[in-house]
Amino acid sequence: MKLLVTGGAGFIGSNFVLYMLKKYPDYQIVNVDTLTYAGNLENLKSIENDPNHVFVKADIRDAAKMDELIGQGIDVVVNFAAESHVDRSIMEPDIFVKTNVLGTQVLLDAAKKHGISKFVQVSTDEVYGTLGETGLFSEATPLAPNSPYSASKAGGDLLVRAYHETFGLPVNITRCSNNYGPYQFPEKLIPLIISKASEDEPLPIYGDGMNIRDWLYVEDHCSAIDLVIHKGRNGEVYNIGGNNERTNVHIIKTILKQLGKSESLMTYVKDRPGHDRRYGIDPTKTMTELGWKPRHSFETGIRETIKWYLDNKEWWTRIQSGEYQEYYSRQYGARLGDQA
Ligand code: NAD
Ligand code: DAU
Repeated sequence: MKLLVTGGAGFIGSNFVLYMLKKYPDYQIVNVDTLTYAGNLENLKSIENDPNHVFVKADIRDAAKMDELIGQGIDVVVNFAAESHVDRSIMEPDIFVKTNVLGTQVLLDAAKKHGISKFVQVSTDEVYGTLGETGLFSEATPLAPNSPYSASKAGGDLLVRAYHETFGLPVNITRCSNNYGPYQFPEKLIPLIISKASEDEPLPIYGDGMNIRDWLYVEDHCSAIDLVIHKGRNGEVYNIGGNNERTNVHIIKTILKQLGKSESLMTYVKDRPGHDRRYGIDPTKTMTELGWKPRHSFETGIRETIKWYLDNKEWWTRIQSGEYQEYYSRQYGARLGDQA
């Protein structure tokens, strides 16, 4: 099988490429990534000499290039490429629409032209908006995105759906909850807290810190996408999540405890505008129809993740320079100086 994976130098995409090449040593992967601030070829170091992995630095909005690449006998496209950080989408929505909506459409056109056998759109539970204290997101929950990021992901999803309904393109959309694990860029909550706490720096907590996310270890997301590729019914949406709802404060206290650091580092700052209160996924369809089951409990997953960040300090210290410094002071400078 020949796969074209987009965004395969990012957090989940690189974990997915590593997972697939290990599980299916005879599969070929063309990995397309434009290497934004979030793309990092270091994530793929262990497979740099693997003849079944070809990295191509290209933008998914480049129609001629996507046509050329997908035209080279690709069977399956898995689209991870995206602008993925909610806070950045609040600062600069523009690039989110360009990559997450227009880029997806470019890929769909090339996939349609070359008659691929599956297009998997890697989406997010954030397209469903926010939950109250009860209930879970099912695949039938109406889309109600609240941030420019989630609105752009919902836009991409709707195009994927339309290419199935109108042109019969064999598609699936996956909607997963919050991932964590190795190679996650340190702007996201868990790696941000591990890196800042290990340096005894203040830990910015938005609002009252009682927002809830449903956490899944990244490898379990990869195994679900693998099943969707091989067993997903065309045109279907599959929700992915491991029933691990935790408040942000709980996550931060867990990390502090494991690192042996003081809770006095916890710093309440001004809330994120439009901050979704709670996410919770109902994964019943994916479990019953595809036979998916997560392998990692939150307790083992977070322990392994903390250990990975401590063992791979060089990986994230290299990232914490240049563009990231500039972003960090724009995002947190005033907030940390003027706490909530
Ligand atoms: P990430 O930001 O770590 O990686 C995104 C990758 O896409 C980067 O390597 C980047 O260089 C690449 N990219 C961005 N724009 C591109 C373009 N125009 N052309 C080619 N490549 C481009 O993101 P992630 O956390 O790994 O998320 C991957 C996907 O999974 C996204 O689509 C995201 O919406 C979705 N998702 C993420 C989570 C999560 O918790 N992180 C949960 C559910 C779904
Ligand atoms: O639910 C899936 C989504 O999860 C993905 O689609 C997104 O790509 C991914 O970034 C993630 O979005 P969140 O907004 O939930 O993740 P983030 O790590 O940015 O924030 C998690 C929670 O922690 C959220 O309630 C905001 C809070 N937070 C975050 C940061 C960065 C803080 O309190 N302080 C912070 O500094």
